[in-house]
Amino acid sequence: MNRSFRNLTTRQAVGCLTVGTVFVALWTFAAAGFLPKWIYYAGYDVVLTAWWLRSAMQLWAKLPTRNARGKFVFWTYAAIFLAAMPMTDWLLPDAGATRTERFFVKSLLVLAAGIAITLIYSLLYKNKPKMRKKIVAGNWKMNTLPAEGVELAKGVVAGRSEVCSCVNFIVCPPFTHLSEVAAALKGSDIELGAQNCAAEAKGAYTGEVAASMIAALGCKYVILGHSERRQYYGETSETLNKKMAQAYANGLTPIYCVGENLAEREAGKHFDVVKAQIEEVVYNLTAEQFKNLVIAYEPVWAIGTGKTATADQAQEIHAHIRKVLTAKFGAVAEDCPILYGGSCKPSNAAEIFAKQDVDGGLIGGAALKAEDFLAIGKGFSK
Ligand code: PGA
Repeated sequence: MNRSFRNLTTRQAVGCLTVGTVFVALWTFAAAGFLPKWIYYAGYDVVLTAWWLRSAMQLWAKLPTRNARGKFVFWTYAAIFLAAMPMTDWLLPDAGATRTERFFVKSLLVLAAGIAITLIYSLLYKNKPKMRKKIVAGNWKMNTLPAEGVELAKGVVAGRSEVCSCVNFIVCPPFTHLSEVAAALKGSDIELGAQNCAAEAKGAYTGEVAASMIAALGCKYVILGHSERRQYYGETSETLNKKMAQAYANGLTPIYCVGENLAEREAGKHFDVVKAQIEEVVYNLTAEQFKNLVIAYEPVWAIGTGKTATADQAQEIHAHIRKVLTAKFGAVAEDCPILYGGSCKPSNAAEIFAKQDVDGGLIGGAALKAEDFLAIGKGFSK
């Protein structure tokens, strides 16, 4: 699914070309009347169906939750059926009904069948674990000049097709080059985020950058409560509550960071620390806001230190975070992506991402090299 034509071996490329040539020849002969006409029409169907299938599969990979996929199944089915409506007369034997009546009854049948198909889908997928958005977000921190940032973003765009389209990549450059990076990302599916936003909407707050400003530059996400901001800039739950409100008011999805420091981990307090960080901020969200939230668990002792939490340590605390979220928001907490951050790199990403409650990573150092950042995305098995 993530294979682009650029990745084909010479043998595969020759194979594709041969099949393509035969196909085009058959089609041309049929169009010219040397071969039966049905070959010509079948040709159309093959091309259009292949194109349709490819697009549908791409979209499918992007819809990670059971709910979203259920809707997708229903609507694609309904779309095919509606498109084929003129050919569905066999559904209703002609009993003197008008065209409108027939259309109405057929639409009801489409609806009923659509609901049945969606129900079957839901039953089939009922117990399939881990259906959440997969995210790899790059936190560039205070690194790169604008031109370097653009270069880095272009590098990520260039290599993107080699990674499963099911992975959602986000880059979070410094404020100063958000708009240039946004331009470099244009046309790709890589999204833009900022590393912080102000607690107020606007006004006399010298040096601050409002959520509305970053949203206007094309940001979809904003990292809030990163440990470096808590530690060096005195961010507290109180300010973070205001920042979260600003983010939501401007249509941004917060990537809310939690995590304990070394002393807290050694004292066995890490479960309580992250619980408090969630209770004091995330618990204040409405159910609607909560649906648009990403959590990043970043143990402070692992950030930029080269020390990574083991995959089991990550799983243990991610599961705990999900439990804390479930206690307040119920079953929707199953859909909330929880990312791991802290010295995540290509060599350890796969093992960590394979864990049940780990849905990707917030990447610092390794996000500064396009190659490494993309390689981390490959840590997701399809
Ligand atoms: P790191 O940073 O990957 O360089 O450890 C992660 C982060 O702080 O977001």
